[in-house]
Amino acid sequence: MLFSIDNLLTSEELNFFIDRFLQAAFIDGKTTAGWHAKLVKNNQQLDKTTPLAQELREQVQSILKKNALFQSAVLPKIIHSILGSRYDVGMSYGTHTDNALMGDQEFWRADVSFTLFLSEPETYSGGELVIENSDEERSYKLTAGSIIVYPSTTLHRVEPVTQGVRLAIVGWVQSLVRDPANREILFDLDTTRRSIFAKEGKTIEFDLVSKTYTNLLRRWAE
Ligand code: NI
Repeated sequence: MLFSIDNLLTSEELNFFIDRFLQAAFIDGKTTAGWHAKLVKNNQQLDKTTPLAQELREQVQSILKKNALFQSAVLPKIIHSILGSRYDVGMSYGTHTDNALMGDQEFWRADVSFTLFLSEPETYSGGELVIENSDEERSYKLTAGSIIVYPSTTLHRVEPVTQGVRLAIVGWVQSLVRDPANREILFDLDTTRRSIFAKEGKTIEFDLVSKTYTNLLRRWAE
């Protein structure tokens, strides 16, 4: 499932991130790419060993944990490998697939990828995130503070920035439910039960859909 959340960040949170980016030391983005992705990755990243990068990771995790849509659609077990990225003029990230497993000491699976846009689209040219499907590709350039969430299984790229600066935060999720088709069933059931609850309260229909949701989650969660 691919979806976006407009204005995930409040304007205070957006300002907090941009302020941190202005203070931060950036390093070559190739340091965190797989051996083949390195060949096409040309951007800069916040040094992930700094306290500032740690603060940023915790803040993003806490914001995503509070978001009901993200929780219901992604069912995160762990939100990991969060990176601040910066593309100046001439920088891009060519077509690649994200590593299946990430981490230094311990490995986490990447089921779902996300990009949280921090720069307003009119302040830079190029820099679209392009996601390829079997028969088409679509490009995304969201407003500052909005997030796109997409399957880690895709080929995707970031187009060259030709003017301005593109700031973004990227990260990955190991979901409690590995199979995207099962996640979609759970998301539909969760949406249905919440809709029933909002209209009619805790009816027998709500209880039965809730029971099905819970029992499927019990069956599929790992
Ligand atoms: Ni990627």
